[in-house]
Amino acid sequence: MAQKEKHNPQSSTDAETYHVPVLLNEVIEWLDINPDGTYVDCTFGGGGHSRAILERLSEKGRLVAFDQDEDARKNLPDDNRVTFIPHNFRHLQRFLRLNGINEVDGILADLGVSSHQFDEASRGFSTRFDAALDMRMDQRQTTTAFHIINTYGEQQLHKLFERYGEVTNAKTLARTLVEARRITSIDTIDALKNAVSGIVKGNPNKYFAQVFQALRIEVNDELGALKELLENTPRVLKEGGRAAIITFHSLEDRIVKVFFKQGTFEEADENPFEIKKRSNPLKQLTKKPIEASAEEVKRNSRSRSAKLRVAEKVSES
Ligand SMILES: C[S@@+](CC[C@H](N)C(=O)[O-])C[C@H]1O[C@@H](n2cnc3c(N)ncnc32)[C@H](O)[C@@H]1O
Repeated sequence: MAQKEKHNPQSSTDAETYHVPVLLNEVIEWLDINPDGTYVDCTFGGGGHSRAILERLSEKGRLVAFDQDEDARKNLPDDNRVTFIPHNFRHLQRFLRLNGINEVDGILADLGVSSHQFDEASRGFSTRFDAALDMRMDQRQTTTAFHIINTYGEQQLHKLFERYGEVTNAKTLARTLVEARRITSIDTIDALKNAVSGIVKGNPNKYFAQVFQALRIEVNDELGALKELLENTPRVLKEGGRAAIITFHSLEDRIVKVFFKQGTFEEADENPFEIKKRSNPLKQLTKKPIEASAEEVKRNSRSRSAKLRVAEKVSES
């Protein structure tokens, strides 16, 4: 349940170890912050973006921070302008209402996992460690990577590796996993790697990164949550309010791009007249996504694939 939190301030060094925010100046510039406004950081993480927003808010300003991972709570600043909501941002409007907020001036989502989640071996996100097949951002959730690997049908596995990981031999991978788990369940990252070692294509690091990306997207229903967040966005933004979304892979970026442009997820322009006729309460401000500067990429390699898109709520009349 949503709650107001007060915590000890954390040194920036701890928070930076937790996660270094990407495109920080660009996000702040594009949000065009109203000092007395209410802002939502949908992905609090280490709180880097949140702290920069708070620096620009007056005493009257307010920040609502979502994170479905309890670990993020320790990064909360000691600041009574902040409300922490330890839940999935897909329920944005519902939790804002529960906190008496009907509309907001700006929304930020910096998608994916934090460096902390990735570097914490026991979370099972990284191919660098051996651990249980977990990959949940929200530890209350029951579906884990173990569940997917050991219970999904061959066809389901094939589709998810193909679609979410662009794994070149997705069909062979799915078949190999289904055959391996007939002998014994695949419990750990090393067991997964061993089960498929004979069919790895190309660079093993790259191959497993794609396999893990696909599993992570499925475990956390990342695309489903993003779509629900986007649907909630025009409902809670004030006119003139802005939404800034940072994505890290092409599937997410495409969803954001199409929704900001058309107000719908239907991509096929089969009937452009139909799409034109529908009203879109959002106006895309970034025709092309904003990307990290060469200097930022050098400093923080994670920013290499980041794409920021921004839209503004416009009058629906
Ligand atoms: C890339 S990190 C954000 C980092 C943050 N901007 C910073 O400056 O430290 C993403 C965070 O969002 C959280 N997250 C991802 N998807 C979420 C969702 N659907 N609902 C709530 N939190 C989510 C993750 O748990 C993670 O802590």
